[in-house]
Amino acid sequence: MQQDMIVILDLGSEQNTLIARDIRALGVYTEIQPHDLTAEQLSALPNVRGIVLNGGVNRVVDGVAIDASDAVYNSGIPLLAVDHAAKKADRTLPAWPRDEAARRDALREFVFDVCKAQANWNMDNFIADQIELIRRQVGDKKVLLALSGGVDSSVVAALLIRAIGDQLTCVHVNHGLLRKGEPEQVVEVFRNQLGANLIYVDAVDRFLDKLAGVADPEQKRKIIGAEFIRVFEEEARKLNGIEFLGQGTIYPDIVESGTKTAKMVKSHHNVGGLPEDLQFELVEPLKMLFKDEVRACGVALGLPDSMVYRQPFPGPGLGVRCLGAITRDRLEAVREADAILREEFDRAGLRGKVWQYFTIVPDFKSTGVRNNARSFEWPVILRAVNTVDAMTATIEQLDWPVLLRITDRILNEVKGVNRVLYDLTPKPVGTIEWE
Ligand code: XMP
Repeated sequence: MQQDMIVILDLGSEQNTLIARDIRALGVYTEIQPHDLTAEQLSALPNVRGIVLNGGVNRVVDGVAIDASDAVYNSGIPLLAVDHAAKKADRTLPAWPRDEAARRDALREFVFDVCKAQANWNMDNFIADQIELIRRQVGDKKVLLALSGGVDSSVVAALLIRAIGDQLTCVHVNHGLLRKGEPEQVVEVFRNQLGANLIYVDAVDRFLDKLAGVADPEQKRKIIGAEFIRVFEEEARKLNGIEFLGQGTIYPDIVESGTKTAKMVKSHHNVGGLPEDLQFELVEPLKMLFKDEVRACGVALGLPDSMVYRQPFPGPGLGVRCLGAITRDRLEAVREADAILREEFDRAGLRGKVWQYFTIVPDFKSTGVRNNARSFEWPVILRAVNTVDAMTATIEQLDWPVLLRITDRILNEVKGVNRVLYDLTPKPVGTIEWE
């Protein structure tokens, strides 16, 4: 293994993630571990050069202050105790300095001067380590991966292809609710360029038939989720000798599921729903990476920018942007309008600057006039928002010329549309999606 590691032991701090980011910013790998880490678990972690005993507001649980196990104190590994969270330590801090520079200085001193860690956390070393770990875990067995084409599953696929080549089978389910060009790009990049074993499943009719007449958003989500599992399961059953399932789990998924002391932020069910008789061991090589690190990993593996830097896209896809009961013609209108919006954002240099942008087509029509005749067609709604965590969002204040150009193109190029609207609603009060 190539990388030195600093362990952050969670003794009730709310700043574990922040400190992890700071240590990684110093070029040193770090993992957050629970306070009751055992001697066995500690010795299984490679190249641990130092441990941060990270105390904080949640340190007292049911009247008792939690503490690290004796294994940690007796390990001989340098310890930094924060918030009086230790019996004995090589360094102590009463609290983390609020000031980022001061915090980094304190960490730099501990990590490099006390622990003598090397700044060897980089993507090349990470990839080399993961390839070794994947090969060790998988041996000569086979791995199955649901490849949606999203950032996380794409990066996992690229990494697994590097590590185990055709022991990996990718399944791409086209449910008909993807953006224009997406299924084609998955096939082009993974099958044609990376030589992956890729099963492409055209399940468009199947999904749209199931969704026909269903107007309730939550019902639509349920149908899409359940049908996806069913299709994937059918493909899995056709294959022989698969023992592992690849997963694009990333670090925030794990951290946000709550540590032993932190309050549960949200439960996370990435694997959710596969039937019990289909039993796989998970391969999750990105589970220690933050989102920007996942992207850097994708770039290092040679994936195209358009795949690595794409904006977030909901699992139910365009299904929740074709409001009410989905019809094929309205779905096409959403897809075509979305493609135009994305093209014009690229042209205006807005890709990567605006967090999320898309189009919505409601299920009502309005009167218009085209070629001297009355028309009765759908509107397209434009939405462009910025956010840090998707809990709140502000709208992007698009320039008029950009808006007018998008409007003009949609009215001329998208069939069945005679009006374009721009949504000015922040979240709250509106959510980002309309359904
Ligand atoms: P809302 O509409 O709740 O969206 O403000 C916040 C973020 O979550 C995305 N979103 C979803 N993602 N499955 C997903 O994977 C969903 O059902 C879903 N609904 C919303 C949305 O695109 C936005 O980025």
